[in-house]
Amino acid sequence: MVFFSKKLGIDLGTSRLRVAVPGPSGRGGRILVDEPTMVTLSRLEDRVLAAGSDAASMVGRAPEHVSVISPMREGVIDDYQIVEALLRYYMGFATGRFNLVRPEVMIATPAGVTNVEQRAVRDAVEQAGARRPAYLIANPLAAAIGAGVPMSDARGALVGSLGAGRSEAAVVSMYGVVVWESARVGGQIVTEQVSEYVKRRHNLLIGEPTAEELKFAAGFAMPVEDPPRAEVRGRDRSTGMPRNVTITANELVPSIQQVLESFVDVTRSTLERTPPELMADVIDRGMLLTGGAARLRGVDTYLAEQLGIPIAIADNAEDAVALGAAEALLNLDIVGPNLLAQESATTAVESRSGR
Ligand SMILES: Nc1ncnc2c1ncn2[C@@H]1O[C@H](COP(=O)(O)OP(=O)(O)OP(=O)(O)O)[C@@H](O)[C@H]1O
Ligand SMILES: [Mg+2]
Repeated sequence: MVFFSKKLGIDLGTSRLRVAVPGPSGRGGRILVDEPTMVTLSRLEDRVLAAGSDAASMVGRAPEHVSVISPMREGVIDDYQIVEALLRYYMGFATGRFNLVRPEVMIATPAGVTNVEQRAVRDAVEQAGARRPAYLIANPLAAAIGAGVPMSDARGALVGSLGAGRSEAAVVSMYGVVVWESARVGGQIVTEQVSEYVKRRHNLLIGEPTAEELKFAAGFAMPVEDPPRAEVRGRDRSTGMPRNVTITANELVPSIQQVLESFVDVTRSTLERTPPELMADVIDRGMLLTGGAARLRGVDTYLAEQLGIPIAIADNAEDAVALGAAEALLNLDIVGPNLLAQESATTAVESRSGR
């Protein structure tokens, strides 16, 4: 089946694993895999039972001998073996089962991770069957390429990424990251805060999947007129019995804004370190937001208000990193020097931050 492309861009996220192939001319790539970064293991036989959405459907419902494992934490590998198994499985899926040729892989990692963490990602993807060397690209650079930010000119662009476990802001220019800042916050903490609020205010315990559903149904970063309501079922903390509560979107706003404040800080300190020559471009063009948590309604209005710059959400916010990583494989001659270094003491990104 030579029909399948051998070039893969991978976004190994805290909550989702995405694999993309580049389009014929760079643009127009496709997402082949978009699955929860999760497996279920049988404790009896130490065996993977299910991966991706099959595993995710068991969260909160699995019997005692089955453990549900999310092997990424805050954007970095937490369980190396599980990550390798997941990569092997989904890279195999993306290249086709009968394909014996190892795929060329570009995998994205957060800009702020250590060398050891970077090496773990590279090792995992190579062990999982990628052609050596596998390339590492900083998340914000991949996101910018994937979202179609023009890169060949020397104008700076501010790119924000709001993920599940990590958020980053970076100024990119000429296929490189000029300055960046990252924080271990994202959609997962938003969900935790929502759950915490329901517990505190309504004396009701809800599970993580319920809190996530509530966030999707009634999560807003800014108060709205005529706010939607959502009914949740949980366990009363006093009686231990099931109870339903109706939550109005505006109740949740302060909890959500509290998390977004960290992202505002991250963006501010990125801007503070942005070289003056690029600052004008950045203020003009504003920030392009990527990542799944950019879908939180009102996030653009909230950030525009806090930061005083225009905010746009990328059309392909969730997919930009994987697509950008795939596209970067087609432009190795230009992007290559800006990729995360093979074995250096400081990353390419760090050494650039003072430009
Ligand atoms: N419509 C939506 N409203 C609110 N939050 C959303 C929406 N869609 C996705 N999210 C949140 O976005 C997050 C997932 O984003 P994304 O897939 O970019 O993260 P990731 O790449 O897995 O994580 P990271 O980049 O932090 O390692 C989840 O926390 C999810 O709840
Ligand atoms: Mg991500």
